[in-house]
Amino acid sequence: MYAAFRSIGSYIPENILTNHDLEKMVDTSDEWIVKRTGIKERRIANKDEVTSDLGYKAALQAIERSDISVDEIDMVVCATLSPDYLTMPSTAAMISQKLGIKNVMAFDISAACTGFVYLMSLAKSFVESGAKKNILIVGAEKISSIIDYEDRSTCILFGDGAGAAIIGQTEDKNEAIIDVLASANGNFGELLITPGGGSKNPIREDNVKDKLQYMKMAGNEVFKVAVKTLTNDVIEILAKNKIDASEVDMFIPHQANYRIVEAVRSKLNFPIEKTALTVAKYGNTSSASIPMAMNDMYESGRVKHGDLMLLDAFGGGFTWGSALVRFAGKNFTK
Ligand code: UT7
Repeated sequence: MYAAFRSIGSYIPENILTNHDLEKMVDTSDEWIVKRTGIKERRIANKDEVTSDLGYKAALQAIERSDISVDEIDMVVCATLSPDYLTMPSTAAMISQKLGIKNVMAFDISAACTGFVYLMSLAKSFVESGAKKNILIVGAEKISSIIDYEDRSTCILFGDGAGAAIIGQTEDKNEAIIDVLASANGNFGELLITPGGGSKNPIREDNVKDKLQYMKMAGNEVFKVAVKTLTNDVIEILAKNKIDASEVDMFIPHQANYRIVEAVRSKLNFPIEKTALTVAKYGNTSSASIPMAMNDMYESGRVKHGDLMLLDAFGGGFTWGSALVRFAGKNFTK
């Protein structure tokens, strides 16, 4: 039994926060942001929308585009660094509830921007072992809820959104998810961190006053490791599976910064037209970035049935991973 990538969907919040809006909030400029990151705008969820609402809407689209009904989903997993609740209930449980799914395993994973690749690894193993048949995986983020809009080193980068996919069973090896590699190294934990809210710095007045509930990033140091790691990830997974880069139909890297994507793409010689690039309009949406980018490629007809996708992610932890995935869903129709 193999695991097949059956469908993709996404949800993009309506509100747009432009670089010009940010110019009025912090000491920055549209010119600096575009030059250093390639980002022009990002989406921000409504006040009354929570992460599971975004994930739910992406999931509805993924389910609708698959061959299965909600009742056939036997596991729901969500990757997020901005869950509805810090400890419980899980965002996956909330997504299940909104979808009307009852009595199936639902849980969250914490792997920051690599979350969607971790989900692929997990779903592949559960399906291949025969334990589950149709798994809903969701990368959903309301990152605006953990951003300090007085901190120009983070607030210009991140946005909200969600992406979801159905991973199902197949006996056809040509439809299979080929391989997923995923790793972590906690030695780099402090470079990209939300220090408050957990057991180390619980929600207390003094911690909140120190703004520990917000994400902090040593951007420049993260940047250097990200480029190196994202490049090595691709080299490793292609070599391991004896696949040449020219066989990849769509390279879908994590959308953190145009300069990072471009450095990796040019080093590995992926043509621009075979590289997903959505960071300009969505910013960095962490675990949602890869499925949101994939969905854009799908809806523009650039990912079709049978195409070989290469996913490549890097994020807080540090975590990183790559996946070689055949798109085994239906072609997009309006
Ligand atoms: O998703 C997880 C992975 N995340 C990433 O991969 C993000 C990785 N990091 C980055 O994308 C980049 O490092 C940033 C976009 C965050 C920063 O770009 P950079 O080219 O590394 O800039 P820098 O941090 O080295 O700062 C350069 C200058 C500094 O000023 P001085 O010291 O040269 O006078 C900063 O204070 O730019 C200044 N600066 C800003 N200026 C205007 C930093 N942020 C801003 C800003 N607007 N928003």
